[in-house]
Amino acid sequence: MSFYITTPIYYVNDIPHIGHAYTTVVADVLARYHRLFEEKTYFLTGTDEHGQKVQQAAQKRDKSPQQHVDELVVRFQTAWKSLDISEDQFIRTTMPFHKKAVQDSLQELFDKGEIYIQEYEGLYCVSEEVFYTEKDLINGKTPLGNDVQAVKEKNYFFKMSKYQQRLIDYIHAHPNFIAPEFRKNEVLGFLKQPLEDLCISRPKARLSWGIELPFDNDYVTYVWFDALINYASAVGYKQPDKANLFKEFWPSAIHLIGKDILTTHAVYWTTMLMGLEISLPKQIFAHGWWLMEGSQKMSKSLGNVVNPLDLKDVVGVDGLRYFLARDIYLGNDAQFSQELVINRINAELANNFGNLLSRSTNLVDKYFAGKVPTSESRLPGSKELKNAALQTAEKVKTDIEKMSPNTAIGHVVDLLNQANKYLEDTAPWKRAKDSLEDAGESLYHALEVLRIVSTLLSPVMPTKCSDVLKRIGWNKPAVFKDCKTWGLLSNSDHVTKGDPLFPRIDIKTL
Ligand code: MSP
Repeated sequence: MSFYITTPIYYVNDIPHIGHAYTTVVADVLARYHRLFEEKTYFLTGTDEHGQKVQQAAQKRDKSPQQHVDELVVRFQTAWKSLDISEDQFIRTTMPFHKKAVQDSLQELFDKGEIYIQEYEGLYCVSEEVFYTEKDLINGKTPLGNDVQAVKEKNYFFKMSKYQQRLIDYIHAHPNFIAPEFRKNEVLGFLKQPLEDLCISRPKARLSWGIELPFDNDYVTYVWFDALINYASAVGYKQPDKANLFKEFWPSAIHLIGKDILTTHAVYWTTMLMGLEISLPKQIFAHGWWLMEGSQKMSKSLGNVVNPLDLKDVVGVDGLRYFLARDIYLGNDAQFSQELVINRINAELANNFGNLLSRSTNLVDKYFAGKVPTSESRLPGSKELKNAALQTAEKVKTDIEKMSPNTAIGHVVDLLNQANKYLEDTAPWKRAKDSLEDAGESLYHALEVLRIVSTLLSPVMPTKCSDVLKRIGWNKPAVFKDCKTWGLLSNSDHVTKGDPLFPRIDIKTL
């Protein structure tokens, strides 16, 4: 089984904010889990670089659009680097291989009679790059609250409407295709209205920054048509030399997106694929939004945009990654505040995980000169802890396969709670005085839990978990199958104590 996960490609004009970081970190965490399971994995992210907004912004800066995007893309690339994002490819829609794949797709649809030209009158929203009709508007604005302008021009259309019933049938026949369930129902609700054909061109007179239509050079293609193709072009679509890559990964594609772009994915993209006679991706998963204080949207005009890199400076990369993957049930909206981030990290990392690590490494250092005290499970609670640890591995895998990282992490937190309680109950610091063997047993159980926990959390916190593994004497790479075996730490392994790995963060530092 292969695993292919994508994020939306972000508008290159934007400054990366916590919303972009959220999708990207969650996709990264899922990709790293599948690598941990030793599955063939491909993780794609990138930037959406054509369109009117980019053209306008470049003009304002007195730059050519290409210069402009070349400069701006660096903000996303450096942001993702500093958040330890492990993408296999960062695609930019201005890359020649992508442009060619888009043009070849357009030509194919044109040759098949799937594209036609017609006079068109509509209401265009520049900031969303989407056409609306009067009935879609709420108080003269788009459902997302943006302005529209009336546009009348000759344009090319893709025969999207003819696929409406086929799409409805497909969604019914593949119940997990659009997730979560309530989003699927939203799409089916949307499909109750007759679907219109999709305008896929923009006259160059109005917009020149785009991919030229191969059959009419007075036009460029609509930015969404261009952008959606990235998911296929990145893994070799329309590139004969990469046919194997496409064959291997395309059938397992999962598009992780925000709920704001569900229609473009679930309706435009799917019908485009039907027109191109490519199988549909395995899943489109729409997650919720982070909302700011008072449940407000994050927006530049409200001045409440959170820069993930600022937050990283307070809580560390792994702390931020942990929060983003842990705090929200993938699919729902959630409230965002710095206090929530800090409280979560203090409770689960500093107190729970950190506490187990410092107690056990300090005691092994003190009573066993750092040498791992291997042991059987004889004391009350030992067997239960061992079994819970082994079951946790399976539970994590099941939840990750269900695209539920927050509950997967929750199982690990439960195990940490149980291990801390076990350590309290067996009190090796007291027992060491009369039975080193008993003290050794409880410490060995704590260390084994730490080994399994750090392996299971390594996709979420790669650096911290690899530090924990080193501290408990585990010098091999983290792999999932080692979480299904108890007792892998041996007498020859050496524990080192050190500074707290997850220092408590003082809320006053904000
Ligand atoms: N360029 C298009 C996507 C094309 S994909 C073929 C686009 N770009 S965007 O820069 O606006 O990014 C939108 C995505 O950013 C959302 O779908 C979501 O993944 C993420 N988020 C933006 N704001 C967000 C929140 N407040 N909360 C969570 N995620 C949000 O749309």
